[in-house]
Amino acid sequence: MQRPVPRKTFIGAALFAALFLLIQFVPVDRSNPEVGVDLMAPVGVKEILHRSCYDCHSHETRWPWYSRLAPVSWWLAKHVEEGRADLNFSQWPMFDMEARGHLMRDIEKQLTDGTMPLRGYTLGHREARLSDPDRKVLLEWTRAGY
Ligand code: HEC
Repeated sequence: MQRPVPRKTFIGAALFAALFLLIQFVPVDRSNPEVGVDLMAPVGVKEILHRSCYDCHSHETRWPWYSRLAPVSWWLAKHVEEGRADLNFSQWPMFDMEARGHLMRDIEKQLTDGTMPLRGYTLGHREARLSDPDRKVLLEWTRAGY
């Protein structure tokens, strides 16, 4: 004879499902504010930045379908918020030369350390991985010092 599902398991699963539905109503900021004045850089450089960095460091984020599903959505939105706060290519010309110099050094450091783009992101976005030639192009750009 089949054993019935224990009552506790059933209640646990129902609570979990209810919680999952409930958290979908927590508002998440997935906005893409208007692009101010976008970064000016050689086409080759922009192409790589668009592919590997713009989802978190610009106002041109491509929000995937799972960005609509809590709690993943909270995690993604937080990354974008923090990424934009540190470095926002959509507002690049608003920074003075000194600030840009700092950012360029920061970018160079992330590239040589290999910390950006974030690993969790490149798992799902293989196209965003930087190849050695990509990295070289970006490093030459940062070292030219715009
Ligand atoms: C999945 C989102 C994501 C992508 C894609 C991404 N970043 Fe980031 N980046 C972040 C977050 C979040 C932070 C802030 C938190 C941190 O320092 O880890 C950050 C911080 C930075 C900083 C500032 C670091 C510091 O400590 O001052 C630089 C520079 C940077 N990223 C460069 C890049 C470059 C260049 C690319 C593309 C090659 C890139 N990022 C791609 C999310 C991302």
